[in-house]
Amino acid sequence: MNIRRMTDLDLSGKRVFIRADLNVPQDERGAITDDTRIRASLPGIEFALKAGARVMVTSHLGRPKEGEFRPEDSLAPIAERLAALLGRPVAVRRDWIDAGEVAPAPGEVVLLENCRCNKGEKKNDDALARKMAALCDVYVNDAFGTAHRAEATTHGIAKFAPVACAGPLMAEEVSALTRALAQPKRPLVAIVAGSKVSTKLTILQALAGKVDRLIVGGGIANTFMAAAGLPIGKSLAELDLVEDARKVMAMLRAKGGEVPIPVDVVVAKSFAPDAPATEKAASAVAADDMILDIGPKTAAMLGELLQSAGTIVWNGPVGVFEFDAFSGGTRAIAAAIARSPAFSLAGGGDTIAAINKFGIAGDVDYISTAGGAFLEFLEGKELPALAILQQRAA
Ligand code: 3PG
Repeated sequence: MNIRRMTDLDLSGKRVFIRADLNVPQDERGAITDDTRIRASLPGIEFALKAGARVMVTSHLGRPKEGEFRPEDSLAPIAERLAALLGRPVAVRRDWIDAGEVAPAPGEVVLLENCRCNKGEKKNDDALARKMAALCDVYVNDAFGTAHRAEATTHGIAKFAPVACAGPLMAEEVSALTRALAQPKRPLVAIVAGSKVSTKLTILQALAGKVDRLIVGGGIANTFMAAAGLPIGKSLAELDLVEDARKVMAMLRAKGGEVPIPVDVVVAKSFAPDAPATEKAASAVAADDMILDIGPKTAAMLGELLQSAGTIVWNGPVGVFEFDAFSGGTRAIAAAIARSPAFSLAGGGDTIAAINKFGIAGDVDYISTAGGAFLEFLEGKELPALAILQQRAA
């Protein structure tokens, strides 16, 4: 992909505007519960600081109403964590659009308050983008997690800034995802799981054309089981999409691949953490059963398949892993990915939560910081934030 990289530029004394994705989960009191995205943004910020740049960093946090600013929208807790990780103070600038110069001294960094509080951000307003572009000499997009959004800080500003380039996290994410999908070592196995086929149908269809094996899990697998003629009781499924599921299965079969269908499952009579769990053959699911996990035979079968993969792309847990009694399938898949010699790539909020729960973060080759952008990349959609960087490099 032809994009300029920040690490190739001379940033000394320059006003460098970094759009990061510091949209981290917080508890009800605002405390950060997972700082992965802040840590992942450090190399870009540190590079610019070491180069002697005047560094401005901004991000969105949540989805605030534009033109309004509530205390919970503030990046202040993020500034505090960033300061601790950088080992230097990080001030927060509240009104930074019409306040004149906001760049700090060379070698210093300032955090510009939640960019989604600015009017025009979501609509990618040109007037706002021009004002932001005027604040910098170099615009850096290091927010892969927000690359699927065409907003003023992810797209518009890149049109007007003197120089527009990608930060190291953006570059690393793009190269890992391209490696897994564009030139994969085969067999390429994708795991797409989650509650609904409808939310991931386009991803399933796009991946069916690329992968050798497509493992489905969660509610998605239930719909595929129904498509294969198996009973699914009162499990979560979308029976109106059974035909689409059959088409995906046929696409894989036509090229010698497959969508493996569970041979056994773990069921319960209700959706609850303490609901008694029963293992059953997939053909023996009763009318009042809910499938909440894959069974051990299926987990072993999928584990073998992952063992012989060349590349694995993982999005979504295969069972209700938050409930211990129904976490065995996702645990087994995580362990199989960790053991597999394949290049493994994972992304999405639930997937990362599962990776952390089962302690395999160190064994996955690349964990994307993105949720929606990761899925859109898998779908093969153009990501606007990347597209504009490519245009500027042309
Ligand atoms: C995310 O958390 O996926 C990104 O930060 C994008 O957030 P958004 O869905 O609110 O645009």
